[in-house]
Amino acid sequence: MNPTLVDRRYRLSQAVMAEVDKEAAKYPSRRAAVKSALRYCQEEMGWVSNEVVTAVAEYLGLEPIEVYEVATFYDMFYTEPGGRHRIRVCTNVSCMLRGAEAIVNHLQEQLGIEIGETSPDGRITLLEAECLAACGGAPMLVCGNQYFENLTTDKLDSLLDQLD
Ligand code: FES
Repeated sequence: MNPTLVDRRYRLSQAVMAEVDKEAAKYPSRRAAVKSALRYCQEEMGWVSNEVVTAVAEYLGLEPIEVYEVATFYDMFYTEPGGRHRIRVCTNVSCMLRGAEAIVNHLQEQLGIEIGETSPDGRITLLEAECLAACGGAPMLVCGNQYFENLTTDKLDSLLDQLD
């Protein structure tokens, strides 16, 4: 992604603008709403493209690079297109000690892909994540906005069955 590539085709939807305005009103500066704006846009678009960065920057009165820095700092923002669902498996210390490697291996086998890849049917992108602050439920993963904890291979199979 290159923040200097300005593409003005994307516009924030009315619904996103309303949510961003609500969030921005809580703070003295509209800059504070960058993360919220990116989250709402990502929910609508599936990922944070150059167009999204530019549109958020324009709406909040910022430079695209300022929004780009936020988008690339947090791993919850996807700056590349991916599958309809993203599964992020925590492989940090607590999860690693409680079997994250087996969780990753099972998902890779079931999906026929490696970490960082998308299934050929475009359904699932498999990603690694740093600690997601749910160590008590290790091993865990996040899919969409939902946490799945104390994972077993049965729970993984059930999750994969649910995803369209
Ligand atoms: S180490 Fe996995 S949630 Fe903290």
